[in-house]
Amino acid sequence: MKSFYITTAIDYVNGSPHLGHAYEKVLTDVIARYRRQRGDQVHFLTGTDEHGQKVQASARRQGIEPKAYVDTTAAEFRALYDRLEVSYDDFIRTTEPRHKDVVRSILQKLYDQGEIYRAEYRGFYSTRQEQFLQEKDRLPDGSWPEIFGEVTEIVEPNYFFKLRAYQDWLIDYLKTHEDFIFPKFRHKQVLEFLKEPLNDLCISRPKDRLEWGIPLPFDEGYVTYVWFDALLNYYSAVADKGLWPADFNVIGKDILVPPHAVYWPIMLHAAGLPPPKALLVHGWWLQSGAKMSKSTGEAVNPLALVDQFGVDAFRYFLIREMNVGQDSEFTVGQFMVRYNSELANNLGNLVNRTLNMTTRFSGGQLPPAGPPEDPERALQGLWLKTRDEALALNEGFQFHTALERTMVFLTETNAYIEQRAPWKLGKSAEPRDQALLQTSLATMAEALRLAVALLQHVMPSTARRINSVLGYTPGPTWAEELHWGGRLAGAKVAASLVLFPRPEKPGKPA
Ligand code: ME8
Ligand code: MG
Repeated sequence: MKSFYITTAIDYVNGSPHLGHAYEKVLTDVIARYRRQRGDQVHFLTGTDEHGQKVQASARRQGIEPKAYVDTTAAEFRALYDRLEVSYDDFIRTTEPRHKDVVRSILQKLYDQGEIYRAEYRGFYSTRQEQFLQEKDRLPDGSWPEIFGEVTEIVEPNYFFKLRAYQDWLIDYLKTHEDFIFPKFRHKQVLEFLKEPLNDLCISRPKDRLEWGIPLPFDEGYVTYVWFDALLNYYSAVADKGLWPADFNVIGKDILVPPHAVYWPIMLHAAGLPPPKALLVHGWWLQSGAKMSKSTGEAVNPLALVDQFGVDAFRYFLIREMNVGQDSEFTVGQFMVRYNSELANNLGNLVNRTLNMTTRFSGGQLPPAGPPEDPERALQGLWLKTRDEALALNEGFQFHTALERTMVFLTETNAYIEQRAPWKLGKSAEPRDQALLQTSLATMAEALRLAVALLQHVMPSTARRINSVLGYTPGPTWAEELHWGGRLAGAKVAASLVLFPRPEKPGKPA
């Protein structure tokens, strides 16, 4: 079995999770589940980023100790991901000893190698992005872009990591590893950034200004800069499992340059470790054109949508709507359009008709199909095309288009039912009509089973429920699942299944 190690970014626990955080974890889950379906041995890591200035400030605002604060908020993030059926194998918190020990040992190693030195720091810092700023980050009028929030000037002695010494190595690495960043256009953006000389990275904070961090092993008067700490989670979680390097670090576009594309590969390389095999960079969910964010307080609460429409409708929408790598505007109206037309009227309708008609015309037991005629042959041909296209699209992270193709197949299956009109065949005593009735019941059920196989990494519980009412238990991988065959002949189906009910107050999630 091929091993496949994939990670998400670890969220700052300085507020409640919003739809953007949920998207990233669901996207990574879809990839993890897809890989398991293909037969890979998957290790899926997610977690929380719990140190740093902005977490400390949030705890202070609530008047509680940082540890008590992060215990509560980290649990909230984790509970959301459990609710969303994010199938992580490990959840790392940067306040855990297993992580802190690895960070300290890597810092000590770099210090002993002479990669870290002490000097006076003078510069500007964005707490919202936990990022050092440079003059070139200013807008033409001298102000700082909105995304940085409040910016403060810092002057103090600190420790620095010799980033600049590795600039040429990194450029060369990127030029010889063209698949390091998906999508491709971001690769170019990083090379563009590297045209300017890098500054060495300030990796410390004096404890009198920031206590909430991992103490430097070689100077306990300082804690570790939160990004240096956080990035190492991908390695610390598997340091004793032999799984490094990761196949993918999945992140949002705001944390590509410089943290993941510059600091991260250089930190690893300096410590004698290989970089991750690739970075998968997704875009933003927007609201009125701006990034949805904890700090602006305008974010969509995923739980409100989940409570009203169910986990799988939420997962489906995120994956169907977003082209991985691009941005997407969130609106309740668009959510409702997809929910009604694709889930309720298309998939839900096919499930209802299949169960209904099998109950009415075949005593609840699926018959075998007779020899295919033109309508059956056309649907089977469409299946082969849909399957091959969907697999290739999933492989290239084009999940939204794969779902669209699967929806077309469902629409055509519903059209096939209209064409065969089993409700008419059921009224006829002619042997040919009775044979066609059996074939049409078997065909719609088999088409449904196959479509469900292509949906299960996106809507795992819906897939389980549909398979269950079809009296079907799928195999652990896709190896045998995607072939058209009489899998369901003889299966006992349930009389009904309510899947995507009309919401009580359409268009108004609480
Ligand atoms: O950046 N749309 O944490 P974070 C899509 N702790 N994705 C979004 C988003 C939006 N509107 N808003 C945030 C951090 N995200 C660091 C990461 S990794 C070693 C440390 C994504 O809570 C964002 O791009 O600000 C990032 O990938 C993740 O949510 C966590 O963001
Ligand atoms: Mg952020």
